Amino acid sequence: MIKHETIEKNIGIMILLIILVISGGGLAEIVPLFFSNSTTKPIEGLRTYTALELEGRDIYIREGCNVCHSQQIRPFRAETERYGHYSTANEGVWEHPFLWGSKRTGPDLARVGGRYSDDWHRAHLYDPRDVVPESKMPSYPWLFENKLSGQDTATKMQVLAKMGVPYTEADAAAAREQVKGKTEVDALVAYLQSLGKLHSVYNNKR
Ligand code: HEC
Repeated sequence: MIKHETIEKNIGIMILLIILVISGGGLAEIVPLFFSNSTTKPIEGLRTYTALELEGRDIYIREGCNVCHSQQIRPFRAETERYGHYSTANEGVWEHPFLWGSKRTGPDLARVGGRYSDDWHRAHLYDPRDVVPESKMPSYPWLFENKLSGQDTATKMQVLAKMGVPYTEADAAAAREQVKGKTEVDALVAYLQSLGKLHSVYNNKR
């Protein structure tokens, strides 16, 4: 039996025991989540991104939109009043990589879909100050010129399918034609409009 005094006076043993205790506590909290339906099963009626939305999501990541915008509504009144139902893990089971984030220079976008028209988003992305004069969000004019080739869209779907996202071979085969010739802003706006709209369980009231 090690005496308490021995532990307190011997930093080596102290460190070892602290690591053991924290690991035990951590594992007890984390491991059950791998087996719980609420974190591993998709929410009822969840659909996958269309080819265009999927390309838009990649542009969102490329442009670093997630550096200023989270996609995670916390379960507090101030948040749910502003953004709608709080985010739940089963909405994000097909997100690879997930874009929840915590940094909010701009508003949370988890349920921004349907809040504005496509035209509003286009004007806003071209120059945010055209629609929100006090905005400090950057402008993205090149999105209006760059066109998608659709060259990699099928491969992206196949990779996601390997990670458990239910894309079929038919989805992948049709993907290229669905995005080819569209501009990057078309794809990004389609993605923004899908946020919070991939299922209708929470009715997405804002
Ligand atoms: C430097 C930080 C920053 C970056 C990067 C950024 N934004 Fe923003 N965004 C803001 C701020 C601040 C606002 C609030 C003012 C406004 O509406 O323009 C905002 C607002 C928005 C809104 C309106 C949200 C609402 O509920 O009113 C959308 C949509 C949006 N951003 C999308 C994007 C997209 C898409 C990108 C990437 C192409 C992006 N943002 C990049 C800071 C940023």
